[in-house]
Amino acid sequence: MQKLDGRKTSAEIKDEIREEVNSLRSSGKRVPHLAAILVGEDGGSITYVNAKVKACDYVGFDSTLIKFNDEISEEELLSKVHELNEDPSIDGFIVQLPLPKHIDEKKVTLAINPSKDVDGFHPENIGRMSLGLPAFLPATPNGIMELLKRYQIDPEGKHCVIIGRSSIVGTPMSLLLSRNKKGANATVSLCHSRTKNLKEMCLQADILIAAIGKPYFLKADMVKEGAVVIDVGTSRLPDSSKKSGYKLAGDVAFDEVSEKCSFITPVPGGVGPMTIASLLQNTLLANKRSADNA
Ligand code: GUN
Repeated sequence: MQKLDGRKTSAEIKDEIREEVNSLRSSGKRVPHLAAILVGEDGGSITYVNAKVKACDYVGFDSTLIKFNDEISEEELLSKVHELNEDPSIDGFIVQLPLPKHIDEKKVTLAINPSKDVDGFHPENIGRMSLGLPAFLPATPNGIMELLKRYQIDPEGKHCVIIGRSSIVGTPMSLLLSRNKKGANATVSLCHSRTKNLKEMCLQADILIAAIGKPYFLKADMVKEGAVVIDVGTSRLPDSSKKSGYKLAGDVAFDEVSEKCSFITPVPGGVGPMTIASLLQNTLLANKRSADNA
């Protein structure tokens, strides 16, 4: 078994981006500027957004963090989205999910200008992606594609089984893997809570992607010998031995599954850092596409 080291791969990508930012700067162009909207006090969201801002600093992007408490109205949030859509100094922005229950996430996603939607969540980007047209690709699925590519794991002709059909991971992952494109061309099964024979499906997988948010759900008896296992889970479990008071748990029972598989992503240090690298790649792309920076 070999670990798919997302931390190391993401660091390589960040160094490549940093070089590009340096050359943008030295040719007198505007450097990429990412804005992030964070609503409320969700511990996970705060950690992720802070990591995104820190990554921007590392690669030399400008970044703006906009925080609201969870009493903000939908209208106020939408008005901030419109403001960022119109602000020429911002290349791309994200609204960290989840949002408080009184705010309609779909409405907020739809309000984002697709050309600034560096999360790749807007239907225009999802539609373009599914047609194989240039688009901002959703950060987590695209980060997984990049990780496979950099470890020379070619999904072509393989059976990829995805557990979880969320609109930000499972569903776009199924589209990316099955596209008629080099580095994709997989046969995909998208499994979910109504899948009847989940264990049998998983046992057929050459590449198995767990994205359901249930700690240690995927056990060794669900994994074929030699499979590639990708763990998207990031549940927080109480752990008094940690300074933070919690530990991060993946969807995969790592110790037992790692004995059987060929490659596996650890949690933390697997998919998470790749999500951030993808977001930076999208922001750089948005900057290069923006009319005033051509
Ligand atoms: N919440 C969990 N993952 C993501 C992500 O990739 N982007 C945003 N905006 N929110 C998230």
